This record gives sequence, structure tokens and C-alpha cells, in this order.
Amino acid sequence: MDESHIEGDLVDVLFTEKQIQERLGELAAAIEEDYAGKDILLVGVLKGAVMVMADLARHFGRHVEMDWMAISSYGSGTKSSGVVRILKDLDTDISDRHVLVVEDIIDTGLTLSWLISNLNSRGPASVEICTLLRKPEAQQMTVDVKYVGYDIPNEFVVGYGLDFDERYRNLRSIGTLAPHVYS
Ligand code: XMP
Ligand code: MG
Repeated sequence: MDESHIEGDLVDVLFTEKQIQERLGELAAAIEEDYAGKDILLVGVLKGAVMVMADLARHFGRHVEMDWMAISSYGSGTKSSGVVRILKDLDTDISDRHVLVVEDIIDTGLTLSWLISNLNSRGPASVEICTLLRKPEAQQMTVDVKYVGYDIPNEFVVGYGLDFDERYRNLRSIGTLAPHVYS
């Protein structure tokens, strides 16, 4: 394999492009059914959710609006603390809107718990969550996650929006990194 082909840095491919697209199609169908007759505002969390948002939204055969938030979570290294700062807020007034938060991955869920209570304080009609990936710890979360693509083991994964040091977001598949990449 060509050295410049970053897909080769993956030690294990957990989900191929085809699997991801099929699963997003199923999630979109479930969401369309659940929200029949209601307007949906998809809220993506930058930057990781960019790919999920783009592909999920295109699986819908109906109108959906999209908006974005950027938040930063203070924490040591890779662990989030739940203390959050808004870097970019929504452009949309979400009062009386049906909000569906679109996430790439939920790990501890601390960041997301904060985000959900922040959104709920703005008087929306409803707030639900759709995440492509969920790690085991997230299942202890008090917030209910309505739409989950895949539950995965507690491993660091990259690709399809997920980064290691801002790299690998542009991979079409999701996998674990080969050790030679960090060392
Ligand atoms: P919490 O713990 O608040 O954090 O749910 C979720 C955020 O942590 C990052 N994260 C990862 N990023 N590969 C990544 O590239 C992973 O395996 C991973 N696990 C957690 C991510 O930014 C997510 O939004
Ligand atoms: Mg994220």
C-alpha cells in the first residue's frame, strides 16, 4: 500500500465506508418515522460530527435544518471533565423547535450532558441525541441517547471525523491506529 495512503495507518478497520452508510440510512429512516409531521433541527457538534451530519442529513428524503455548535471541554489530556465553554453558539433560536443533536462519539458523556442541559434551558419542544458511536462508559450517563449507530469497545478510534491530533478525520472508514503512528 502507498505510504501516503492514511487508511494504511489503521491496525483494525472497525467499520467500512459501506457499513457506516448503511447504518446511517437505518438511523435516518427511524428518525423520519419518529418525527413524521414535525420539523427537525439537526445540531452538529464541531468538529468531529461533520461527516456524520453530512451523510445522515443526505439520507433523509425530507427537509431538515442544520446548525452547529463548537464547544471545548476542559480536561487533562484525552479525558473530558464536563466543564465546558461555548466557542461557537447556534445561529438558530431553538425555542419550540425539535432539536436532534448529532454526535460522532460519546465516551464518558460528560460533554454531552452539559450540552443537553444547556439546550434544554432554551425552551425547545424536544431534545434528542443521535450518535454514530458510543463507548461503554457512556451507558452510565443519565441522559438518554435515542439513536446509536454502534456500541464499541473502550478503544481509541479515528476516521470519519474522529481525529488523533487533528489527523485522520478525512478517512472514509473508522478504525484503531497502528502503534507506529503514536511513537
Ligand atoms: P465525553 O467523554 O465527554 O467526550 O463523552 C467525548 C469526546 O471525546 C473525544 N473522544 C474521542 N475522539 N477517538 C477520538 O478521536 C476516540 O476514540 C474518542 N473517544 C472520545 C471526542 O472528541 C468526543 O466528542
Ligand atoms: Mg466530538
